[in-house]
Amino acid sequence: MVVSIPDLGTSTFRTTRSADDICASLTAKLGWKHRYVAARLSVGRSLSLPDQPPELNDEDSENMAIPLRGMQLFGEDSHSATWLALITQHSGDAEMTKKGLQGLVTRHWHRGAFLLKQDWDDGGQQMHGFVAHLSELAGFAGDGDRHEDTPPIAAAATFPGEVRLPVGEIARDLKSNEHVTFSVNGAGGSPHMAIIGGVGSGKTRTALHMLRTLRQNCELPLLAFDFKGDLTDSFSRSFGATSITPPEMAIPLDVLHVPSSDDTSIKTAAARIRDSIASVKARKPSGVQSEALREAVASVLRQSSPDAPASLPDVASALESEYDDRGRKPDELTATFNELTQFFLFKPKLSPAEFFARSWIIQLPQDGSMEMRRMIINLTLDALDRWINSQPDAPTDEQGTRNLRHLTMLDEAHVILSTRLPALANLLRMSRSKGGSLMLISQSPDDFENTEDGYLDNMGMTLAFNTQAKPGPTRRIFGGTVSLATLQIGEALCRIRSEARTQKVICWNNT
Ligand SMILES: Nc1ncnc2c1ncn2[C@@H]1O[C@H](COP(=O)(O)OP(=O)(O)OP(=O)(O)O)[C@@H](O)[C@H]1O
Ligand SMILES: [Mg+2]
Repeated sequence: MVVSIPDLGTSTFRTTRSADDICASLTAKLGWKHRYVAARLSVGRSLSLPDQPPELNDEDSENMAIPLRGMQLFGEDSHSATWLALITQHSGDAEMTKKGLQGLVTRHWHRGAFLLKQDWDDGGQQMHGFVAHLSELAGFAGDGDRHEDTPPIAAAATFPGEVRLPVGEIARDLKSNEHVTFSVNGAGGSPHMAIIGGVGSGKTRTALHMLRTLRQNCELPLLAFDFKGDLTDSFSRSFGATSITPPEMAIPLDVLHVPSSDDTSIKTAAARIRDSIASVKARKPSGVQSEALREAVASVLRQSSPDAPASLPDVASALESEYDDRGRKPDELTATFNELTQFFLFKPKLSPAEFFARSWIIQLPQDGSMEMRRMIINLTLDALDRWINSQPDAPTDEQGTRNLRHLTMLDEAHVILSTRLPALANLLRMSRSKGGSLMLISQSPDDFENTEDGYLDNMGMTLAFNTQAKPGPTRRIFGGTVSLATLQIGEALCRIRSEARTQKVICWNNT
């Protein structure tokens, strides 16, 4: 007889003891109060795979766990109806019997529990990693509060295929000698990388080697900022990047572009651009300054159009009139802003979509002020954030490998990390589902410490050469009692998040 919805509630269902042990362990770790939570998650997880769960082996089928009543496992009314629909639809068997259903549930529950165990490990054995991993598998963007009336934006190109990068020129595990690679876009992982190390420890050269390998695999557009003049050669020669030298040469980017012109988007963008501008100065602006700057940016954004895009000097004059309206005298904020906008740091020649589709190396002025350097980086990253996070999610293939869309390399990242740039935090958290990847290079894990968002938790790979660092952050990233100060030249600790382990790697040697 074909199974019915009431049958579901009155039947009992079981799984194998090995699966039940996994569920019990997850239940304890995650603090769930009922046995059915892990059981439901297991069945659901198994249903996420297109093929049928395999038959149990002899050992498993002889070791079954205590059963659970259908009413508990699947809930009542519409809940049990939904489960029945999901399971029968997945099986393709419209005539399923009660016995057939029980057998199928056992196998789903068993397979799902083992998948969850793997997911738990892939998520770094932590609640947030686990949940993020599951939501990614389920295809939840997590950042999709885009308004329905926003017109669709033409999706920028993405690049398919897994990209695996060697961790350094040698890239050998010190103990096992195995080749150590990082999958930038593998299933469930994060595409962001952090490379840490003291002066001259080999960060830049290692990063360039990884990017060179990346470009052998795909023509991903790259963006980098060159502080010291040691990147431009490689970027222009090996990666075909166009070199720009502000302020002599303006960056041809419509840096104040907002993907949609509804009021909410304008207000959100204005607040963000205000923060980016305000954070170029060491001293935080006052409430009044901050408010006036936000209003100035918003009024300029409202007047901007594709034919007459807004520019920074427009913001400077709008700020002056906001000050006038408030009866406020010019102060250090208007002075800094006027000083910076004397230079044409940006020229709105290309839309963000056009700009970020190509590779660029932006050489930061060595003799310019720190404020100018920060202004260039902050506003560019801000435009990148608005553009990439307005893109549709990058497609994934059957293995869960996500197409890539863009990579930004930020050498000497401490300059920006210390300004707590909101765009950077947003890029780290949100851009992964869009195919965005960030490579941040800095001298010490401590540089990342002052950032409230736990930047290093968002890294798919953290690689650290010899450097002075406090034990706290180091231990939190790499676990155990490791010290970065005792690493030899060319050696680094490597943490690949999806593998949840720390390896000591020989990245390079100077013989
Ligand atoms: N793979 C390598 N093989 C041989 N020598 C290397 C390698 N990587 C780095 N070096 C040596 O170390 C020096 C410093 O490398 P690199 O500029 O990459 O370090 P860095 O950590 O970026 O330094 P900084 O903190 O000054 O930016 C190089 O000039 C080179 O002599
Ligand atoms: Mg360097």
